[in-house]
Amino acid sequence: MTKTQLKTLDDAPLAPKELIFGDSPYDVLRRMREKAPIARTDVGVTLALRNRHFELVTSDATRQIETETKLMQGITDGPIYDFTRLAMLFTNGETHIRRRLPVARTFAFKLMQAMRPRIRDIAEDLIGSKIGVGPVDFVSDIASQFPARIIAEILGIPDSDVPTFLNWIQDTASALGMIDPAQRDQIEASLNAFYDYVADLLDQRRKNPQEDFVTEYVRKTAEAGNLGEDEIRTQLLGLILAGSDTTRGSICMILSELLQHPQQWTDLTADPDGLKRAAVEEGMRYQPLVSGIPRIAMRDIEIDGYLVPKGAVIAISIISALRDPEIFSEPDRFNIHRADQQRWHFGFGAGAHRCVGEALARAEMEEMLATIARMAPNTKLIGDPPILMPAAIRQVGPMTVAFEA
Ligand code: HEM
Repeated sequence: MTKTQLKTLDDAPLAPKELIFGDSPYDVLRRMREKAPIARTDVGVTLALRNRHFELVTSDATRQIETETKLMQGITDGPIYDFTRLAMLFTNGETHIRRRLPVARTFAFKLMQAMRPRIRDIAEDLIGSKIGVGPVDFVSDIASQFPARIIAEILGIPDSDVPTFLNWIQDTASALGMIDPAQRDQIEASLNAFYDYVADLLDQRRKNPQEDFVTEYVRKTAEAGNLGEDEIRTQLLGLILAGSDTTRGSICMILSELLQHPQQWTDLTADPDGLKRAAVEEGMRYQPLVSGIPRIAMRDIEIDGYLVPKGAVIAISIISALRDPEIFSEPDRFNIHRADQQRWHFGFGAGAHRCVGEALARAEMEEMLATIARMAPNTKLIGDPPILMPAAIRQVGPMTVAFEA
C-alpha cells in the first residue's frame, strides 16, 4: 500500500474514557479490537491493540520516551529528574546498552535460580506466622514485604533496615510514572535518602568485597569502566524500584484469580511445584501489571493499514494483546492449563528494554504461590477480590485473605 492509500490516525476510533478511568478495561478493549486494530486517545497516544503489533511497537522503528514526560510536568531538575535522566529504562541506543549490560549479566537467570531456596525460606517465614490467625491484609503484610526482603537480602541489607527501606520503596516507586505534585516533596526526600543509602552500600562493598550481588555488580562496572558513579547508583536504585511494585501487584492478582477458581487452586495445591510456573504464566496474561508500553515512532510506520507518522507516540496495549483471540482461545477465561501460552511472555515487555528482572520476578511469584499452596491449602479470599487501578503500572487495591492449613 502506498502512503496515500493508508488511513490516518484521525480515522482510528477514539478510545472511550472508561478505558483510561475504569477498573475493568477488558470489555472495552474487546469492543475496541472488534472495531479496529488501533485506537486513538484524547491525550494524543495511539494504542496498538493486537498481539501481532507487539514486536513492531518495541522494535527499532520506535524509541523509548526519555525525560519528555517529566519535562511536560515541569520537572526539570532535582532527584526525580536525575533519576529519569540516568536510569536505563528511560534511555536509548548506546547509553541504554552501557547501563543495562552489567545489570543483565549480574542478574542472570542462573544466579536467580540459585536464590530459589532462600526465596522459599522467606516465603515460608512470612506465611508460617499468619496461618490460622484470621483475616490478613495480604497487600501490606505479605506482598509488599516479600520482594522488599528479597531485594534487601540480594543487596546485603540487614533485616533491621527493611522497614525504612520499604518506606523509601513505597514513596519512590511513583518516580517511575506521572508525578502527583502534592507528593513531589516526599518522593524527592525519600529518593535522596535512598540514593545516600545506595552510595554507602557501594562504598562498603568496594572496601570490603563480599560474595554478593552488589560486589559482583561493582566488579562488572569497574571492568567495563564506562559508567559514571551517578549512573551506577541509579541502576541499583532503579532495579529496586522497578521490581517492587510490579511483583507485589502480580502476586496479589495471581493468588486472587486462583482463589476465585477453586478447582484450579485445588490442582495447584495437589502439585505446587509442577503447576507454579503455569499459574504465574496465566495470572500474568490474565491480569498483567504493566498495562502498556509507550514509544515514539522514529519514522513513519504502517500498522494494519494506518499510518503512524514519525514523532507520534504509540503504545502497545499489553492488557489488550494478552487477551487477543488471534493467539489465545477463550482469552477471557482464566485457565492455568491452557496450551497456547506464548514462548516469551509479553507481560515482561519485548525488545531492547524487556524486563531485566524477569528471572527474579518469576522465582518470587512461583515460590510464594507454591508456598501458600503447600502450607495453607485451605486459604480463602475474604470480601471482594482486589482490583487493579488504571495506570501504566497498575496499582493493586486492598486484598484480605485467611490462611488455613
Ligand atoms: C511481575 C513482575 C514484573 C513485571 C510484570 C515487569 C515488567 C516489566 C516490563 C513490561 C518492562 C519493559 C518496560 C518498557 O519496555 O518500557 C520492564 C523493564 C524493567 N524491569 Fe521489570 N517487571 C517485573 C519485575 C521486575 C523485577 C523483579 C526487577 C528487578 C529487580 C525488574 C527490573 C526491571 C528493569 C531494570 C527494567 C528496565 C529494563 C531496560 O530498560 O532495559 N522488573 N519490566
